[in-house]
Formats: sequence, C-alpha cells, structure tokens
Amino acid sequence: MIRILFLMFIALPGSYGRYEPNWKSLDTRPLPQWYDEAKLGIFIHWGVFSVPSYSSEWFWSQWANNNEEVVSYMKENYPPNFTYQEFAKDFKAEFFNASEWAEIFQQSGARYIVLTSKHHEGYTLWPSKYSYSWNSVDIGPRRDIVGELAEAVRRRNITFGLYHSLFEWFHPIYLSDKASNWTKKEFVTNKIIPEMRELIQTYEPAVLWSDGDWEAPDSYWNSTEFLAWLYNDSPVKDSIVTNDRWGIDIPCKHGDFFSCQDRYNPGTLQLHKWENAMTIDKQSWGFRRNAKLSDYYSTLELISQLVSTVSCGGNLLMNVGPTKEGILAPIFQQRLKELGDWLVINGEAIYGSKPWSTQNDSLDSSVWYTASKDDNVVYAISLHWPSENILTLGSTQDIFRYTDTVIYLLGNEEDGVLNWSVEDNGAVAIEFPTKSITKSDGAYVLKIVVNGSISVGQI
Ligand SMILES: *[C@@H]1O[C@H](CO)[C@@H](O)[C@H](O)[C@H]1NC(C)=O
Ligand SMILES: *[C@@H]1O[C@H](CO)[C@@H](O)[C@H](O)[C@H]1NC(C)=O
Ligand SMILES: *[C@@H]1O[C@H](CO)[C@@H](O)[C@H](O)[C@H]1NC(C)=O
Ligand SMILES: *[C@@H]1O[C@H](CO)[C@@H](O)[C@H](O)[C@H]1NC(C)=O
Ligand SMILES: *[C@@H]1O[C@H](CO)[C@@H](O)[C@H](O)[C@H]1NC(C)=O
Ligand SMILES: *[C@@H]1O[C@H](CO)[C@@H](O)[C@H](O)[C@H]1NC(C)=O
Ligand SMILES: *[C@@H]1O[C@H](CO)[C@@H](O)[C@H](O)[C@H]1NC(C)=O
Ligand SMILES: *[C@@H]1O[C@H](CO)[C@@H](O)[C@H](O)[C@H]1NC(C)=O
Repeated sequence: MIRILFLMFIALPGSYGRYEPNWKSLDTRPLPQWYDEAKLGIFIHWGVFSVPSYSSEWFWSQWANNNEEVVSYMKENYPPNFTYQEFAKDFKAEFFNASEWAEIFQQSGARYIVLTSKHHEGYTLWPSKYSYSWNSVDIGPRRDIVGELAEAVRRRNITFGLYHSLFEWFHPIYLSDKASNWTKKEFVTNKIIPEMRELIQTYEPAVLWSDGDWEAPDSYWNSTEFLAWLYNDSPVKDSIVTNDRWGIDIPCKHGDFFSCQDRYNPGTLQLHKWENAMTIDKQSWGFRRNAKLSDYYSTLELISQLVSTVSCGGNLLMNVGPTKEGILAPIFQQRLKELGDWLVINGEAIYGSKPWSTQNDSLDSSVWYTASKDDNVVYAISLHWPSENILTLGSTQDIFRYTDTVIYLLGNEEDGVLNWSVEDNGAVAIEFPTKSITKSDGAYVLKIVVNGSISVGQI
C-alpha cells in the first residue's frame, strides 16, 4: 500500500498540476484506469479504400507506386482516366446501421472500439471543416459516420475511440512541407491540429489512436503541444488514452500505451501498458472481397491472441473491415460472436485482471496466467484440453505451498473443486473433469484460489 501511494504521488503532473509540452512531463500522466481494465477493443478500418476492397487499405498508394496487382486490376476494370477520388461516390454505406454494429460489438465482449476517422487517404468519416469535399457528408454516404457510431456504441455502454492518421499520402500541402525537410509546417498548422481539435471537441472520444507519423519528427507534428492541450484543457482530459505514434523515434517510447508495430505481441511481460493491434483477416485492415477462408484467423487463434496479450499486460485491439455497403461480413460476425461466447464464461480471467509473476507455464507454454486484482486468485488459461484430463504445470509451486488452495474450472457444469497433487519434481498435476460437462470451448480457464498472497507482475 505504501508503495502504491508513493507511485501515485510521483505520477502527479509538475508545477501548477498542468502537463508541459515535453515528453518528460507528459510521461508522468497516470493511465486512465478504464483502459487497462477493458482488455479488448474492436478496431474498424473503413473509408474510400473499402470501395475497391482489393489488396488492402493502402490501395491508392500501391496504385500510385505501380504495385503490379493493383495497376492491372485498375487497367482491367476501370476506364483509363479513372481517379481514386471517383471511388468515393460509390462509398454509399446504404446498409450501415450503427446500432446493429454496436450490438455485434457488444456481443463480442469488446469494451471499446476504435474507428478510422481518417486514414492515410485523407477522407474523413465526419463532416470536417478541414476536409472540404473529401468527407462522408459531402461525398459518399452523405452521413456523419463518426457521429452515428459514437451515439450507438455509447448506448450499449461501449467506450468510443477514434483512429486518426497524421499524414496524408498525396495532400499537396503535406508534400510541400515534406519537400522543405519539415522546415515549413503549413499542413500541421492549418490542417492537422485544427482537425484533431475539431474531432476531439465534437465527438469526445476516449481513445485517440494516432498513426501515419513516421516520416516526420514529433516537433513537426507539434505532438507534445497537442498532447499537453489534450491532457490539460480538452473535454476528455481525464478519460482520453493515446498511443505512441507521434513522430520518428517516439513509438515504443512515449504515450499512454505503446502500440509499437502493427500486430505487436512480444510474448513477455512489458513494463509499460501496451496494445496488440491485429487483424482478423491476416493480410489486410480494410475489407478484401477476394479474401479466402484460410486468410481469417480461427476463433481459437483469436482467443489465443487475447490470452497471451492480456497475460503480458497488453490490450487486444482486433480489427474488422466493413464493406462499402456498411455490412460487417458474416465471417467477422461469427468470429466476434464466438469470442464473446467464450468471454461470457471466462471473462473473469480477462477483464480487470493483472499480469501474474509468470506469464506462460514452464512445462506447458500454451498455458498463460493472469491474476485477480485483489491478490488471491491466479487464472491458468490452457489453450488446449489436457490429454487424459490431467494438466501438469511447472510454474505454480509457490501457490500450492498453501495446502488449502482450491481450483475451479470455469464453465464446469458440476461446479466442483478439482483434485490436484504435487509431484516429486515439484510440478503440479490437476485433474480435469470429463470434457462433456464444460461449457467452454477451445480454451479452458482454471481459477486457482489461494488462501494467502500471490505475487502479481507490474502494470
Ligand atoms: C484521358 O485524359 C487525357 C489527358 O487529360 C485525354 O487526352 C484523353 O482523351 C482522356 N481519355 C479518356 C478515355 O477520357
Ligand atoms: C437499425 O437496426 C435496429 C436494430 O436491428 C432497428 O431497430 C432499426 O430500425 C434500424 N434502423 C434503420 C434506420 O434501419
Ligand atoms: C458498463 O461497462 C462497464 C465496464 O466497461 C461496467 O463496469 C458497468 O457496470 C457497465 N454499466 C452498465 C450500466 O451496464
Ligand atoms: C533535413 O533536416 C535534418 C534535421 O534538421 C538534417 O539532419 C538533414 O540533413 C536534412 N535533410 C536534407 C535533405 O536537407
Ligand atoms: C505548434 O507549436 C508551437 C510552439 O512549439 C506553437 O508556436 C504553434 O502555435 C503550434 N501550432 C499549432 C497549430 O498549435
Ligand atoms: C513461454 O515460455 C518460455 C519459457 O518457459 C519462453 O521461452 C517462451 O518464449 C514463452 N513465450 C511463448 C510465446 O511461448
Ligand atoms: C478427487 O479425488 C477423490 C479421491 O480420489 C475422488 O473420490 C473424487 O471423485 C475426486 N474429485 C474429482 C472432482 O475428481
Ligand atoms: C486460510 O489460512 C488460515 C491460516 O493459515 C486459516 O486459519 C484459515 O482457516 C484458512 N482459510 C480457508 C478458507 O481455508
């Protein structure tokens, strides 16, 4: 307790209780608690790239950079002078129903969502004053997508977050700043900062997931000045969390949570809160009409990502790409539903959990651990049903020194305690019941209740 109070004290911002526009000061901000407890979010990549829905959301850039597949797709299917901008009128979103999406997200067990308010193509999913004629009200759906989704997910008690790309591949002012070796800041001054403030003030997201930072230094993006405003004076100053993509050399070093690289999942306990942003379609964030069944992760693979991520102190941000019509393809719906069904039974090992002192087991690396906040439960999550119903663990000696330790299997319809014994080599053998009486599928959670204190990991 004394140690916790001390940490809270040093985590307070500097003089006058305000953050200063430098990383040293910004890094002292405590992580808003909701984020660590949430553990699972849904990422949504949607935009004009969802019209070709071919190759990936980088379609425009790939086309301009002579990617062979994309160039020949355009040659074979569109007139010679067709421009990327012309795709926008076919982004109709005619079946988009935000409350249906919100219901699907709720059933997945996700506690927050992050929508691409603007990807690298520059098209905004809200009627931005700073994106004239290149936003979802002026052309395409003729609807405020950000506003509709914010309202619908909040009605379902899901936290609303937004992704925002700093750079825009082909924005002439950005390209001119770039040509000046970032000595000019026209794009940041007249577009990016006002646009981000508009986004924050209008929709009050609880996540700002920054991206597209990597060509320029954070000083060009005015990142620390913007974040100081966000943390001191914005309407979301207490709830907002941001990632780390704020300029060259910033990722994995500064930010409320680290997203490092796409699909970051280090497999070991991290000292700073982090997030594994990954895709259900292994190849693309945007929808692909020609994706094959084998391109989608199975539900068990997704559970495995969730479990290993949470065990190591991360959150999982799992991406879906809606179609241009505004549909979440049934394959995505099915994966989300099955993950949600698993969480209904096993969620107590995930939500609000803490990392334990060990992450995966020394004898069985497909068993991952989490711990309860109140220090007396360890969850052992096995990604397989043990052969002959006996699971042998190598990392739990410490908790089985208490002879009154009690083990339950979540979803066990008989609800009883499991027998366990310590073997000569110190390994612990746990007897599972017969498989037919457990409601869980694919991955199985042992709730190990200790009559004594367990040592938890950091974060
Ligand atoms: C394509 O654009 C070029 C130059 O603007 C023009 O000369 C040509 O006629 C156009 N072709 C078609 C098929 O519209
Ligand atoms: C959206 O979906 C909900 C739930 O299915 C339904 O009640 C509502 O009428 C739909 N809204 C529109 C505009 O279709
Ligand atoms: C909303 O969700 C949070 C967890 O994210 C939960 O603690 C809270 O009880 C929920 N509130 C309602 C009204 O369902
Ligand atoms: C751009 O600016 C950086 C930092 O000021 C400098 O190191 C680099 O040499 C410059 N590059 C060019 C091409 O001028
Ligand atoms: C960017 O930061 C500088 C100070 O470092 C400040 O003078 C300028 O007004 C900021 N620009 C914007 C658009 O906030
Ligand atoms: C699991 O644990 C072993 C050590 O017991 C370690 O070598 C391995 O990297 C860990 N992580 C994964 C992802 O298996
Ligand atoms: C535990 O072991 C005892 C004695 O061997 C046995 O009677 C009992 O059925 C076992 N319980 C379970 C849940 O396997
Ligand atoms: C927990 O341990 C204490 C001291 O060892 C003992 O008195 C108590 O009965 C135990 N409680 C349970 C529920 O086993």
